[in-house]
Amino acid sequence: MERGLILLVAALGVYVASGVQGTSNLSFSNNTQVNISHNGCGVTKLCVRTPGNCDPTGNTSCLFASVISSTPIAPNGYEMSFQLRGDSMGYIALGLTVNASVGTTMLFICTENSTNNGSFFFQAMDQNNTNGVLTPAERITTEIRGIVNGNVIKCEFTVPKMNSTTFSILLGTGTLLGNGFSSFNMSLNSGLLNLTNPASNVPTTVPPVVNPTMASTTMANTTMANTTMANTTMANTTMANSIGAVQPHAVLLLLSVLTLSVMLRA
Ligand SMILES: *[C@@H]1O[C@H](CO)[C@@H](O)[C@H](O)[C@H]1NC(C)=O
Ligand SMILES: *[C@@H]1O[C@H](CO)[C@@H](O)[C@H](O)[C@H]1NC(C)=O
Ligand SMILES: *[C@@H]1O[C@H](CO)[C@@H](O)[C@H](O)[C@H]1NC(C)=O
Ligand SMILES: *[C@@H]1O[C@H](CO)[C@@H](O)[C@H](O)[C@H]1NC(C)=O
Ligand SMILES: *[C@@H]1O[C@H](CO)[C@@H](O)[C@H](O)[C@H]1NC(C)=O
Ligand SMILES: *[C@@H]1O[C@H](CO)[C@@H](O)[C@H](O)[C@H]1NC(C)=O
Ligand SMILES: *[C@@H]1O[C@H](CO)[C@@H](O)[C@H](O)[C@H]1NC(C)=O
Ligand SMILES: *[C@@H]1O[C@H](CO)[C@@H](O)[C@H](O)[C@H]1NC(C)=O
Ligand SMILES: *[C@@H]1O[C@H](CO)[C@@H](O)[C@H](O)[C@H]1NC(C)=O
Ligand SMILES: *[C@@H]1O[C@H](CO)[C@@H](O)[C@H](O)[C@H]1NC(C)=O
Ligand SMILES: *[C@@H]1O[C@H](CO)[C@@H](O)[C@H](O)[C@H]1NC(C)=O
Ligand SMILES: *[C@@H]1O[C@H](CO)[C@@H](O)[C@H](O)[C@H]1NC(C)=O
Repeated sequence: MERGLILLVAALGVYVASGVQGTSNLSFSNNTQVNISHNGCGVTKLCVRTPGNCDPTGNTSCLFASVISSTPIAPNGYEMSFQLRGDSMGYIALGLTVNASVGTTMLFICTENSTNNGSFFFQAMDQNNTNGVLTPAERITTEIRGIVNGNVIKCEFTVPKMNSTTFSILLGTGTLLGNGFSSFNMSLNSGLLNLTNPASNVPTTVPPVVNPTMASTTMANTTMANTTMANTTMANTTMANSIGAVQPHAVLLLLSVLTLSVMLRA
């Protein structure tokens, strides 16, 4: 009796998965364990999150994603394993794009199928970045697994044939409509990252020991999630570093020399 029920549920799951357009290239993992933490962020996996440095295992709101990319495997490109965790009564999604305002975004959606008693549901979509329209995408995705607990959604999946490693990671949410998904509401744009480099969004400069009077203007407030600011941040901290190494009056001298040269140039 119990076994029959399990088979029925399994059959229903397969039916649901294959009954939706754009799902023929998806394969679900038989391992239902979903274990998402920030262990290894910046070292073994590239992580992005909002707000700030939020903890995906904590119980405050946290939209978190990580990726581990293989070295290229000819002729398939790169195999990338993703983790995604967020809070939504609708869906959460991870997007990969080269430019969030033009072209398309590859979107991976994790959600609860509320009409199927809270079962986990996954869909690959393409977003037209110009008008936000979502269309189902045929994108080979494997090892898909996820759990929904109240408004906390967690999922993991693998894209075995990724053609590039330079993408901006977008994180966001959306609502479920009767016949599909509302448009993607982006809450984080990582800026372009090298997905094969776990430290790609970690500032490389050592925290400087700065003269306190200099600190307020030169020190950048670095949060890992806000990677759009990475360029400016790194420039700032590098500057703080070099200034920290010399005497303040030398800095003033340096600055006046710089000012002078600028004036001479003008
Ligand atoms: C699966 O994806 C491949 C590559 O993107 C595509 O060529 C193929 O048509 C897809 N399969 C189906 C059944 O749509
Ligand atoms: C689960 O999948 C793995 C490969 O993905 C396979 O080796 C294993 O036999 C499967 N286990 C069950 C119980 O289906
Ligand atoms: C979850 O993953 C972490 C490392 O990412 C590992 O230390 C821990 O043992 C894992 N827990 C389970 C239950 O698999
Ligand atoms: C979750 O947060 C609430 C309120 O901040 C706190 O009372 C509770 O202990 C937390 N639970 C866990 C498991 O951290
Ligand atoms: C994205 O595309 C727009 C329109 O072509 C362009 O203005 C913008 O500079 C691009 N952004 C990046 C980061 O390349
Ligand atoms: C949710 O589950 C219902 C019932 O199993 C199914 O008809 C429907 O297509 C599913 N919706 C989605 C978005 O998968
Ligand atoms: C959902 O679960 C409730 C209670 O467990 C049950 O009464 C209901 O029939 C289920 N609905 C579906 C669509 O399975
Ligand atoms: C995206 O939307 C714009 C504006 O509606 C349209 O011109 C363009 O053809 C669309 N792009 C794709 C790839 O569908
Ligand atoms: C990579 O794949 C995406 C989605 O399939 C496609 O839009 C893009 O043009 C491809 N890029 C390259 C460089 O082939
Ligand atoms: C990044 O920080 C800047 C300045 O602090 C802020 O304006 C911007 O909204 C932040 N972006 C994200 C995605 O948090
Ligand atoms: C990305 O990072 C990897 C590992 O750090 C490096 O080998 C590769 O050259 C980088 N690719 C680009 C395009 O910067
Ligand atoms: C950095 O910014 C965060 C959030 O904007 C703030 O909570 C924190 O106090 C700031 N830290 C410093 C050193 O300014």
